Amino acid sequence: MTHRTTPFPDGFLWGASTAGHQIEGNNVNSDWWRKEHDPAAGIEEPSLDACDSYHRWDEDMDLLAELGFTDYRFGVEWSRIEPVQGTFSHAEIAHYRRMVEGAIARGLRPMVTLHHFTVPQWFEDRGGWTADGAAGLFARYVEHCAPIIADGVPYVCTINEPNMIAVMAGLKKAGDQGFPPAGLPTPDEETTHAIIAAHHAAMKTLRDRHPDIKVGWTIANQVYQALPGAEQITADYRHPREDVFIEAARGDDWIGVQSYTRTKIGADGPIPAPEDAERTLTQWEYYPTAVGHALRHTAAVLGDDTPLIVTENGIATGDDSRRIDYYTGALDAVAGCLDDGLNVRGYLAWSALDNYEWGSYRPTFGLIAVDPVTFARTAKPSAAWLGGLARDRALPRIGG
Ligand code: BGC
Repeated sequence: MTHRTTPFPDGFLWGASTAGHQIEGNNVNSDWWRKEHDPAAGIEEPSLDACDSYHRWDEDMDLLAELGFTDYRFGVEWSRIEPVQGTFSHAEIAHYRRMVEGAIARGLRPMVTLHHFTVPQWFEDRGGWTADGAAGLFARYVEHCAPIIADGVPYVCTINEPNMIAVMAGLKKAGDQGFPPAGLPTPDEETTHAIIAAHHAAMKTLRDRHPDIKVGWTIANQVYQALPGAEQITADYRHPREDVFIEAARGDDWIGVQSYTRTKIGADGPIPAPEDAERTLTQWEYYPTAVGHALRHTAAVLGDDTPLIVTENGIATGDDSRRIDYYTGALDAVAGCLDDGLNVRGYLAWSALDNYEWGSYRPTFGLIAVDPVTFARTAKPSAAWLGGLARDRALPRIGG
């Protein structure tokens, strides 16, 4: 395999992503913390200290900047900022502001995610996203994030993977039978409407207060691939799980594209990957070009006007050489999209750190390893390789 490089456009975001709950540790007022400690929830292990990034965010940023990255996507936690309904913590707002300033000081442009799967316990107790007034409460929290984002934050994500939130709500409503062997459970329609309303309410708040910030949301893209004859079945399957959320981004400043693998669909629905397919630690099929398909599908739904940013892409593996291979294939696919004129504005790998993968620490997605006791960070070879590409402002191409 020969490698050439393609320069990427000016202003291209090049970095890595994290989420508050997955790295901070001790996010004790969140719904997830409670769930993690409820034996009935059947969660493998709790997040506990996670990567202790609540205290060590500066080490994370030092490393990312040293590695060559120019952008860092991280989350702020609603349950820290508003631990009790209507009560906002000045100290937590100041904490996240320090993170924003810390990123800028190191030459990392911050992208701030306002919601990444976790909600405050009080919000869950009053019925979550489908309860009366939920969108307004989210928008009020977003308004209170103003001191964090007002200065120097070019990109804000309102809600991460709303489609997975609707899928998880659907799973719960149906009595939590677990995930099917292929594809995703049916999303809960009421949650879909509620979460789209929350996004639009937050969007309005942000546009009114911060006209210079580019606001969007990030969608999980499963790269549904129709077997011959199953095109309509695939489109019908995909629409409530994906396209409805992409369509809701029309008019936003950008859309986040997040993909890891693919799902084939035949006449009877999703088909599990063959027994002999290479799988990652999450059991997903190893399929590095997923991100290219995801970008092309998102552009096909939204048209060329909405800038696309890859806000998550990566692989859970204990073999870092497979990670480099995966990213090589993925970045070649991104370069192909750029060659074809797609409006791709950035690439953020998932994830900066080995972190809490929603129930377990086993699937290691990180470019940087974290010792669970000392919290010492060690950059993996893939981190140096990817950071080097960011520093050279180039994308690898496979072949001539
Ligand atoms: C989420 C992350 C998660 C990753 C890998 C995305 O669904 O936004 O929080 O860790 O995929 O599963």
